[in-house]
Amino acid sequence: LGSHIHYEESVDSTQKVAHQLATDGACEGTIVVAEEQISGRGRMDRKWISPKYTGVWMSVILRPQLPPHRAPQLTLIAAVAVVQAIEEVTGLTAEIKWPNDVLINGKKVTGILTEMQADADRIVSIIMGIGINVNQKLEDYPEEIQPIATSLAIEKKEEISRAQIIQTLLFKLEKLYQLYLQNGFQPIRILWESYAISIGKNIKARTLSGTIVGKAIGITDEGILLLEDEAGVRHQIYSADIDLE
Ligand code: BTN
Repeated sequence: LGSHIHYEESVDSTQKVAHQLATDGACEGTIVVAEEQISGRGRMDRKWISPKYTGVWMSVILRPQLPPHRAPQLTLIAAVAVVQAIEEVTGLTAEIKWPNDVLINGKKVTGILTEMQADADRIVSIIMGIGINVNQKLEDYPEEIQPIATSLAIEKKEEISRAQIIQTLLFKLEKLYQLYLQNGFQPIRILWESYAISIGKNIKARTLSGTIVGKAIGITDEGILLLEDEAGVRHQIYSADIDLE
């Protein structure tokens, strides 16, 4: 990964640039990194605030020879790689909140947005977007998100090298992706569950079709969250926002 790097000073969104490159035939492992995103995108049509020189705003193009239903697993790989990179570079302990938030001390430090182009039976490309808050100060955030957002510098109380984060992240991502292609999802799932905070806890899953309350009991082989409600009924959650109860 990272043999082809597109570096940009300022973009709309690295996702958008990466989509275009993928459509034009960019090879697997192509990376788009920008210093700033004017309209960074989050999950569920939200914005992702991406000020200049403060974070890692990056999209990775992958082309696994796999059927589309395996795409959610790749989001989980990214979350594991981010946790490992943060721990290695800063020594801070990070945790994962399903599916793709990385938290430190309960506050979000990283968001991951995985988008796919696929035929009926195979993935054409996966664009894995990773946004890591690195050197923001608390007062850089709008007041309403200050209680829920953080950066590596806030937590570590010193500036962190973004280059080192990118380098370590790509290294971890590459290793985990190879492990996944060779040995399947099982080893990733074990790592992911070891970093996850929501498993075994009571959670509230806010989906587009309503809210389900219950205990998160794990993830399926496909990377989907399993939740057991009070009546003992098991639900498979494909997409939701999770609140810990
Ligand atoms: C989320 O938590 O909602 C996901 C946020 C993903 C943000 C990253 S930053 C790099 C890439 N480009 C984007 O526009 N979004 C992703």
